Amino acid sequence: MAAITSRSGAPYARIMGVGAYRPVRIVPNSDVVEAIDSSDEWIQQRSGIKTRRWAGPDESVQMMSVEASRIAIERAGLDASQIDCVVVATVSHLLQTPAVATAIAHELGTDHAAAFDISAACSGFCHGIALASDIVRAGSAEHVLVVGVERLTDILDLTDRGTAFIFADGAGAAVVGPSDTPGIGPVVWGSDGEQFDLIRQREDWRDVVGSPEVPGSGVMPHLTMQGNSVFRWASFAMAKIGQQALDAAGVGLDDLDVFVPHQANMRIIDAMARSMKLPDTVRIARDVADQGNSSAASVPLALDRMMAEGDARSGDTALLIAFGAGLSYAAQVVTIP
Ligand code: COA
Repeated sequence: MAAITSRSGAPYARIMGVGAYRPVRIVPNSDVVEAIDSSDEWIQQRSGIKTRRWAGPDESVQMMSVEASRIAIERAGLDASQIDCVVVATVSHLLQTPAVATAIAHELGTDHAAAFDISAACSGFCHGIALASDIVRAGSAEHVLVVGVERLTDILDLTDRGTAFIFADGAGAAVVGPSDTPGIGPVVWGSDGEQFDLIRQREDWRDVVGSPEVPGSGVMPHLTMQGNSVFRWASFAMAKIGQQALDAAGVGLDDLDVFVPHQANMRIIDAMARSMKLPDTVRIARDVADQGNSSAASVPLALDRMMAEGDARSGDTALLIAFGAGLSYAAQVVTIP
């Protein structure tokens, strides 16, 4: 048996830079209420959402990703040619293959970076950060670009009362690279496939397209969600996961500066903060109010905003947690770059 040479990378990994792209169009509740027989008051009370960002025709998954990534790479103090792996978390790149990550890597000007997509719905970005950290520490790449991007309006049924007012579009990106000190804590992640149907694409593509013998429906598959069950799961089970991520990183509540939960819904964010007994000193991301829920993009968009507004400062300790369809979840403690 031949001896296989192994490889090891940096002692630790850290987030080096963050960037974001928000679609230009701001959509107020008044624009969505008619089709779902709702009201601005109901939406604000149930979700905390006042406005959301919806992409225009030119704001594709690739375009938004490239814009966010360029900013993240620049803030990391790097050139795109130094990125040697690109991980894109999305559920709304509607071309089954190839991975949009390859096109993004090419447009950015990386030097033949490894590039692949991951599908973990709203928890995709935190899965990507976990992978990136391990990739850097294993030496498989030196600088990993992680993108969370969605154009959910392509798969949104604007007449569906349970989803039309919640979901949104956008992109966020982070560069993960080597570090002499720990900058990304151990991930706590998992899934509960027993609840596979709670948030899902309603129809299988084969039922939509059909076959020459049996034509399909021809109707675009849409997102569907059993909101009440998701709400209960996210509000309570996810607080425990957040605490486990803090414990795994050896970070106490008093040492935590910033909390960036998935921007699902303001009531879920508040319920998690209460369940976790976060001290008043912890600054909490509340980007959902005017961004909506942009799934894989929500955590990096919220993080970018907190950094821009001075609520997350360089060296701060932040807890990231994301959760959604699958059901799947991932959480980790990170140091703000
Ligand atoms: N506008 C106005 N009324 C609505 C409505 C809408 N869009 N959708 C439902 N309703 C009404 C229902 O008809 C029902 O009325 P009734 O009491 O007279 O029968 C009432 O509101 C409650 O319906 P329900 O479906 O139980 O809503 P809810 O209280 O669970 O709220 C959500 C709906 C979607 C806001 C809530 O379930 C939620 O926030 N879930 C989590 C969703 C989420 O964040 N998902 C992302 C995770 S990745």
